[in-house]
Amino acid sequence: MVDRYSRVVFITVALIFILFDYTLSQQQILISWQERLALLQLRSSLGLRSREWPIKSDPCTLWAGIQCTNGRVTGINISGFRRTRRGNQNPQFSVDALQNLTLLSSFNASNFAVPGPIPEWFGLQLGSLQVLDLRSCLVNGAIPSTLGNLSSLVELHLSDNNLTGVVPSSLGQLFRLSVFDLSRNLLTGVVPATLDGLGNLTVLDISSNFLSGEIPSGFGSLSRLQFLNLSGNSLSSSIPVQLSNLSSLVELDLGFNSLSGSVPPELGALRNLQRLILGNNLFSGSLPSNLFPNLTQLQLVDLSHNGFNGDFPDVLWSTPSLQFLDASMNNFTGTLPNVSSSANAAIAVFNISRNLFYGNLTPVIRRFGFIDLSGNYFEGPVPVYARGNTSLGGNCLRNLNSQRSRTECASFYADRNLVFDNFGERNVTQNSKPNKKSHKSVIILASVLGGVGLIALLVIIIVMFIYCKRRRGTSTTNQRGTVVGPVPPRGENPPPPGVSLNFASVGDSFTYQQILDATGEFNDANLIKNGHSGDLFSGKLEGGIAVVIKRIDLNSSAKREAYMLELDLFSKVSHARLVPLLGHCLENENEKFLVYKYMPNGDLCSSLFKKTSSDDDSLQSLDWITRLKIAIGAAEGLSYLHHECTPPLVHRDVQASSILLDDKYEVRLGSLSEVCAQEGETHQSRITRLLRLPQTSDQGASGTPNATCAYDVYCFGKVLLELVTGKLGISSSTDTTTKEWLEATLPNISIYDKELVTNILDPSLVIDEDLLEEVWAMAIVARSCLNPKPTRRPLMRYILKALENPLKVVRDEHTSGSARLRTTSSRGSWNAALFGSWRHSSSDVAATSSAPSRKVEGASSFKQSKTGSSGSGENGHGNGHSSSSRRHSNEIFPEPLDVERGNED
Ligand SMILES: *[C@@H]1O[C@H](CO)[C@@H](O)[C@H](O)[C@H]1NC(C)=O
Ligand SMILES: *[C@@H]1O[C@H](CO)[C@@H](O)[C@H](O)[C@H]1NC(C)=O
Ligand SMILES: *[C@@H]1O[C@H](CO)[C@@H](O)[C@H](O)[C@H]1NC(C)=O
Ligand SMILES: *[C@@H]1O[C@H](CO)[C@@H](O)[C@H](O)[C@H]1NC(C)=O
Ligand SMILES: *[C@@H]1O[C@H](CO)[C@@H](O)[C@H](O)[C@H]1NC(C)=O
Ligand SMILES: *[C@@H]1O[C@H](CO)[C@@H](O)[C@H](O)[C@H]1NC(C)=O
Ligand SMILES: *[C@@H]1O[C@H](CO)[C@@H](O)[C@H](O)[C@H]1NC(C)=O
Ligand SMILES: *[C@@H]1O[C@H](CO)[C@@H](O)[C@H](O)[C@H]1NC(C)=O
Repeated sequence: MVDRYSRVVFITVALIFILFDYTLSQQQILISWQERLALLQLRSSLGLRSREWPIKSDPCTLWAGIQCTNGRVTGINISGFRRTRRGNQNPQFSVDALQNLTLLSSFNASNFAVPGPIPEWFGLQLGSLQVLDLRSCLVNGAIPSTLGNLSSLVELHLSDNNLTGVVPSSLGQLFRLSVFDLSRNLLTGVVPATLDGLGNLTVLDISSNFLSGEIPSGFGSLSRLQFLNLSGNSLSSSIPVQLSNLSSLVELDLGFNSLSGSVPPELGALRNLQRLILGNNLFSGSLPSNLFPNLTQLQLVDLSHNGFNGDFPDVLWSTPSLQFLDASMNNFTGTLPNVSSSANAAIAVFNISRNLFYGNLTPVIRRFGFIDLSGNYFEGPVPVYARGNTSLGGNCLRNLNSQRSRTECASFYADRNLVFDNFGERNVTQNSKPNKKSHKSVIILASVLGGVGLIALLVIIIVMFIYCKRRRGTSTTNQRGTVVGPVPPRGENPPPPGVSLNFASVGDSFTYQQILDATGEFNDANLIKNGHSGDLFSGKLEGGIAVVIKRIDLNSSAKREAYMLELDLFSKVSHARLVPLLGHCLENENEKFLVYKYMPNGDLCSSLFKKTSSDDDSLQSLDWITRLKIAIGAAEGLSYLHHECTPPLVHRDVQASSILLDDKYEVRLGSLSEVCAQEGETHQSRITRLLRLPQTSDQGASGTPNATCAYDVYCFGKVLLELVTGKLGISSSTDTTTKEWLEATLPNISIYDKELVTNILDPSLVIDEDLLEEVWAMAIVARSCLNPKPTRRPLMRYILKALENPLKVVRDEHTSGSARLRTTSSRGSWNAALFGSWRHSSSDVAATSSAPSRKVEGASSFKQSKTGSSGSGENGHGNGHSSSSRRHSNEIFPEPLDVERGNED
């Protein structure tokens, strides 16, 4: 009895719960069987998966992306869904079932491929639709004009498809439309004037199509518009004045069209404008002076590549929130203003390259993070704040490479009745410099000769005569480039230059057409740089392999054979540290092409610092570990060329831009067109050492400059210094500024004082005490590479070892170095090799540094450790400490070619 009673109670309670649960969820589950059927039909016609739309469960509650109201389907979002394997076999825009979802207000299929045209019935059957999102759906065909019947539509997204045909004028009836985005399609025809009826529009984007004609003046009535993007079409004529009525406008992008005329001053009324893009059109005239003063919200202004002229609008210098200004490639003129920084400093891009600006550089540019002033007529010295991230080429600036010629600058300034500073020189003294130099060397030579005596001179002449004669005998087969590689020439004589070699083994042979296709017919956009051995283009081979293609124009190239020498090199050497050559195209008579693998991280020059878009003034710089890795990689490459190839190969173009970096920052040496065999290797250096005539070891007997491994070592020293100090451009330059910089920098590198190196340390490096020792070690290696005397520079293989064991460089030497050095032969240990060359440099440091450190140096047994002839030279030098401080500055850092220095020793 009790049992039966309790069972009834239990069942009742259970029923109540079930009913309660049902009523709770009743509103959510799908109540229309027709709609359920329609969804199942849609599920199968689109090939959707059970994962998102599980077939047996309720669509409203359990299917992803289905939105229901009162048991009816009101929204479908299949954005980014994946299809079943079967659905993938024949994907189509097959959505007939949508017709039965009569309350559907939102359909979002973005990023879901439905190749095919938008059905005609869309506009007629989906009357409740408010949101239609078909972005990136591979939709093609024309936009049906019936879409104009979707009178409830608020958002229409059709961007990133393959839509063709015209923009139907019926779309102008979508009065509720707020977002209208047809960008990045293949639409043609004109921009329909009827669109001016879309009074609720906030976003109008029809960019990147093929639309032509004018901008309808009626657009001026779209009073709620905030975002207008018409860029990347073929629109012509001028900007309608009526656009100035768009008082809500935040972004106006008219770039990359064929718009012309001048910019209407009325646009100054667009007070809310933040981004103004007019670049790459045919605009001309000067910018009206009342255009910018009210546009105080501006963050981005792009006026580039038009025909603007006249004075640059000064007010742009002080627009408070400006982040990005590109006025490049116009004919703007003017000077930089004197204000130091009237606006908030901001990480910003500032490009006024290729205009007609002139005058001195002023502190105003401090405000910007990235600055391009190239291709103007700026004059005067380059102040400290303008170094670093500033492009300054093609101006009239002092002490800088690649500036305009004196005549060009002078005539520019004269045409404007301005005074040109003539690179800071007075005209009279211009030509006297080189004379002075040779005069000086004559005096030095004379005194040296006087000291050594006539007999010695005779001996030298005789020996040199014999030596040169011998060299001339051998050099015919040993000329630059004809004999390279680890293997000696294979028995036969190398072909004379000019005769076509068999390069079948050197990568693939590409056709000219393939080269054209890969580079987009040498599209300017693909030009990486005009290298000295040819123009470099980036490109893509069929199959998508990224490559770099060097175009060598034999008509304009001074070294017509360079490409053959390079091919020859690649046919004989191969090493993981050399940039991979994929092939060549030699079919044209006057143009040859070499195809290299693309290096994702560019070269050291461009990747040492990368712009970050985040906070103020900050550049992302390579961390120390990566820098050390790059140094070691480059040393490996050079060590291979110097020590594993017979005869030794000299790179001759060692600088940061020759050190290419793959995706993992592994070094691949590039710029190999200058590589040549070291001149008269062993024989010459012996004579050189005997006669102590360092100049002949840097200047090859055949007249090839810098064809010695020691020259590479010197240049590599500068690269190492760049890594330590972050000062770009040192390794690519030999001008006086660089020399002065070196003179100021090297005294901060001392084997006795670690802390000194922090004076020159790249401020962007974050470094703890341990790493500082490595930095110190690299600096020491750099300094020994920069020894003025080529014969005292360490060999590349010792440099490599030192970089691989940086702590040994500083710790061993510091504690027990002297003992070690005394017991090792001068070439037996890399340490000794490195510090053999260091001795000289460190005595120079002592000459300028304080007395205590000189005392340390004197007490050290470095001096005793050296052997042979170099030792006596060292002693002589050491004795001259006090007097050597006078000649110190010009003695420490000459270019390795410098003849005087050698004789002085
Ligand atoms: C649409 O569906 C995707 C995938 O389920 C989801 O990530 C996204 O948030 C949905 N978007 C909207 C607007 O509901
Ligand atoms: C769906 O709509 C079409 C046309 O409106 C109609 O012929 C068909 O019967 C409907 N399907 C269902 C399941 O109601
Ligand atoms: C459609 O879905 C995508 C992905 O979830 C979303 O980013 C987008 O905003 C949606 N479209 C609309 C109009 O809401
Ligand atoms: C669609 O709009 C056109 C005008 O553009 C109109 O003539 C036609 O009657 C409309 N069709 C429907 C079914 O409302
Ligand atoms: C904007 O849309 C509303 C309905 O949302 C409509 O009543 C109004 O007429 C539209 N405005 C214009 C200027 O078309
Ligand atoms: C305008 O559209 C183009 C191409 O669709 C795009 O690259 C550009 O960033 C857009 N402009 C703005 C200001 O968003
Ligand atoms: C600048 O002016 C010169 C000379 O008038 C003209 O040749 C050149 O095309 C102009 N450059 C631009 C970008 O308009
Ligand atoms: C800037 O100031 C310097 C003196 O400090 C002056 O010689 C120069 O003319 C000024 N330049 C401008 C553009 O005002």
